[in-house]
Amino acid sequence: MTAGETVRGWLHGAMAGRLAGVFARLGMADLITEGNGTLDALARACDMAPERAIRLLRGFADIGLCAEDASGTFTLTEAGALLGKGSELNDVVRLMTDPVTERAWAAVEAGVRSGRGGFHEAFGMSIFEHMDGDPELRTRYDRFMGGHTVAIAEEVGEHHDFGRYRRVIDVGGGDGTLLAVLSQRYPELRGRVFDRADGDFLREVPAGADAYLLKWILHDWPDDEAVTILRNCRAATPPHGRVLVVELILPERGSPDRPRDPALTDLNMLTIYGGRERTRDEFEWLFAQAGLAVELVTPLPSGMSLIEAVPM
Ligand SMILES: C[S@@+](CC[C@H](N)C(=O)[O-])C[C@H]1O[C@@H](n2cnc3c(N)ncnc32)[C@H](O)[C@@H]1O
Repeated sequence: MTAGETVRGWLHGAMAGRLAGVFARLGMADLITEGNGTLDALARACDMAPERAIRLLRGFADIGLCAEDASGTFTLTEAGALLGKGSELNDVVRLMTDPVTERAWAAVEAGVRSGRGGFHEAFGMSIFEHMDGDPELRTRYDRFMGGHTVAIAEEVGEHHDFGRYRRVIDVGGGDGTLLAVLSQRYPELRGRVFDRADGDFLREVPAGADAYLLKWILHDWPDDEAVTILRNCRAATPPHGRVLVVELILPERGSPDRPRDPALTDLNMLTIYGGRERTRDEFEWLFAQAGLAVELVTPLPSGMSLIEAVPM
């Protein structure tokens, strides 16, 4: 592929991604699976004139989500079948092409200039504050996070012995998926989710646990706030307790283990949350600022790591 084709491929990809968002939102995979693959039936189900719907359907076919046969009937491809309603990929595609996400990414440059991220520039608030006023988006967000979290929760339970704790608090635990999975493996474990409905981890984290879990929390925040969250966890942790953080640890620049697109992942964290991805040294610095010492880092099969820290 020439360099010019590569650049055109990105632009084409941006359009294709948006089209996949329409496919997911319309529930096309389910409509076609349910046997409504003719143009008329699909157009009716989408409440669209057939002569207009055909352009959209051929767009879906063009990017490989479905195929049109000689009689004008559409069937699902393998990729299209992955986008059924309620599937993990359907949630990912819908969130990444949601008008809210699009508006944040449209402000990517302003967000880098200010350091506060595109979302803050576009909406004047954080995505979490925005979702307080958009319960439908919040529900979809929680389902998306929960879907991602199930597999990682299994790994966390397998690679760390939670049998040694009396009580765990999942700080920013969303819909409680992580604790639910851990409780299946450790039925004796007592746990509680602490999220926005219960308080604000930038102000205080409740006492009473001997382990504080933070999965995908620190990368949502810039350094000052990340240190504040860790300090609040440190203040709640008894001397024998642990702060357990599950995050992607970026390998140092130039390392062969470095993921293919760390800069894009990092920019997405800045754009949507105002946060950042970090290397091990950067994490250790955050913990030290909060009076915590990193005792152990356990790499998990998914590529995430479990960082175990103790009060200094
Ligand atoms: C990226 S999600 C991670 C959810 C969950 N830990 C997981 O990994 O599936 C971040 C979570 O932090 C919560 N959160 C954001 N700001 C918060 C605050 N100030 N106090 C408590 N929770 C907060 C959000 O509501 C959200 O559930």
